[in-house]
Amino acid sequence: MQRPYVLLSCAMSVDGYIDDTTPERLSLSNVKDFDRVDEVRAESDAILIGATTMRRDNPRLLVNSESRRARRVAQGLPPYPLKVAITTSGDLDPDLRFWHSGGEKVVYCPDAAAAKLRLTLHDLADVVNLGPTVDLGRMLDDLASRGVRRLMVEGGGTIHTQFLTQGLADEIHLAIAPIFVGDSNAPRFVNPGNFPGGTGHRMALAEVRAVDDVVLLRYLPKESSGSPTS
Ligand SMILES: NC(=O)c1ccc[n+]([C@@H]2O[C@H](COP(=O)([O-])OP(=O)(O)OC[C@H]3O[C@@H](n4cnc5c(N)ncnc54)[C@H](OP(=O)(O)O)[C@@H]3O)[C@@H](O)[C@H]2O)c1
Repeated sequence: MQRPYVLLSCAMSVDGYIDDTTPERLSLSNVKDFDRVDEVRAESDAILIGATTMRRDNPRLLVNSESRRARRVAQGLPPYPLKVAITTSGDLDPDLRFWHSGGEKVVYCPDAAAAKLRLTLHDLADVVNLGPTVDLGRMLDDLASRGVRRLMVEGGGTIHTQFLTQGLADEIHLAIAPIFVGDSNAPRFVNPGNFPGGTGHRMALAEVRAVDDVVLLRYLPKESSGSPTS
C-alpha cells in the first residue's frame, strides 16, 4: 500500500526559531497565515504532532472554517482530518484539548507505553503500539491502511528532524515571520542530523508567497533545485 504524501508545516522567526523559552505560546503566524494553514489542514487526511507540542501548546488542530469542513463532507470525507499523536513516554493527559474536539484520533507509541495510554485515554483515541520503538515508516504504513494519503506534520522540531533525516518528507512549508527570538535555548525547526542528500543538497523551491508580513517558502526535499552554486 502506498505510504502517505508527507508535508511538514512550520512557522519560524527570521533567526530560525519556532518558539521562545517563555511558558506562553509564541505567535509567529499572522491571521492570514493561520487561514492558509487551515486550508492545508482541510486538504489533508491526517494531522500529526509530537507529544511535547501537545503538552506545551495544548492545540486543538481543527479545520476552523465551516465552509472547508462542508467541502470535505461534499467530497465524501469526514469534516475533520484524523488527528495523530506520537509518544514514547505515554505521558499524555486525557484533559488535553487535542482529545476533545474534531474527529477520530490515533496515538502511536512503543509497546511499553501502550497499557498506560489505554488506561488513561479509554475511548478518546485508538492506541497503536508498534514494537519496542515507533518506527516512522511503520507508522506511515499503518496510516496508509487507514486511508491516509496525505499527512500534514505540524511539529515540533524533534518530529520534523526524524521525517527529514529518514527521507520520509515530501514537502516543507516554512512560514517566515518578521520577528527575532534571539535565544539559542529556543527550539528550532530541526535539530542536528544527517539531512537528505547531505550538506550540499539544494532542495527544489516549489513556491514563494507573501502572506501579509509572513513569507511562505515551499520546498520539495526529495528534488534538487538544479541551480548552479558558484
Ligand atoms: N512554530 C511552529 O510552527 C511550531 C509547531 C509545532 C511545535 N512548535 C514548538 O516546538 C516545540 C516542541 O518541539 P520538540 O522538538 O521539543 O518536541 P515535539 O517534536 O513536539 O515532540 C517530541 C516528543 O514526541 C515524541 N516522539 C518523537 N519522536 C518519536 C518517535 N519516533 N517515537 C515515539 N515518540 C516520539 C516523544 O514524546 P514523549 O516525550 O511523550 O516520549 C518526544 O519527546 C514547542 O516549543 C512548540 O511550541 C512550534
